[in-house]
Amino acid sequence: MSKIIKLLQLIVLIGFLVAIFFLIQGQPVENIQPIKGVIVLPTPETTGNISVEDAINKRKSISTYQNKSLTLKDISQLLWAAQGITDKEKNIRTVPSAGATYPLEIYILTGTNGVNGLESGLYHYNPLKNQLEYIMKGDLRVNLSSTAYGQGGIANAPAIIIITGVYSRTQNRYGDRGIQFVHMEAGHAGQNLYLQAQALDLGMVLIGGFSNKDAQKILKLPSDQEVLYLIPVGHPTNS
Ligand SMILES: Cc1cc2nc3c(=O)[nH]c(=O)nc-3n(C[C@H](O)[C@H](O)[C@H](O)COP(=O)(O)O)c2cc1C
Repeated sequence: MSKIIKLLQLIVLIGFLVAIFFLIQGQPVENIQPIKGVIVLPTPETTGNISVEDAINKRKSISTYQNKSLTLKDISQLLWAAQGITDKEKNIRTVPSAGATYPLEIYILTGTNGVNGLESGLYHYNPLKNQLEYIMKGDLRVNLSSTAYGQGGIANAPAIIIITGVYSRTQNRYGDRGIQFVHMEAGHAGQNLYLQAQALDLGMVLIGGFSNKDAQKILKLPSDQEVLYLIPVGHPTNS
């Protein structure tokens, strides 16, 4: 009898430890709770002032930015280009996705006065609702910059777009091949961002050289999300 009680105690203890482990590791993205509600973004434009050829021709990496705020409209347009919805009924987005598994999540980290109308902090982009979910308060740019060894002007950019990948979404269908697919999709989102930034006369650079572990820790992201790109964006100093 005492053996059974000990066994039950052991099962309860293991269950408790497992629960603690998952609490520490973080929650799946679906469970992210915004700390200060949501910000509905302006409706993105589907026409612009320059041709796609012009945007491709002028695209380049820029890593120095003016001390000038971005607007919510800029942010809406950029996030839409990275992962926005173009056709809700057919589930089509601005970027292709292997088997329409959509493994990418997009965040934006804003600096103090970085974006008109937004407090500094970390926001999650909800493409289906075209809104931001405020998930962490504070100007974390210097901390994030240190994870990328000071590259790309992250510490001074008004905003930094962050692309993460949830491998399981694509791997559940494609196995190990899914890992490559997730990386390919981050590339598609990155190029869309370059072209959209160019069309808005903004500058940005894709930063792939950073410590995943440190970035994950600073941004307190769910454990099933891998940080793939840090993308500082702002008004270029030469414009
Ligand atoms: C996958 C990838 C990772 C990159 N990582 C970094 C990086 O860590 N730091 C950086 O300054 N630029 C980074 N870049 C930007 C490249 O340095 C830049 O694209 C290259 O110098 C060519 O310049 P251009 O984009 O102006 O044509 C990266 C670009 C790609 C595609």
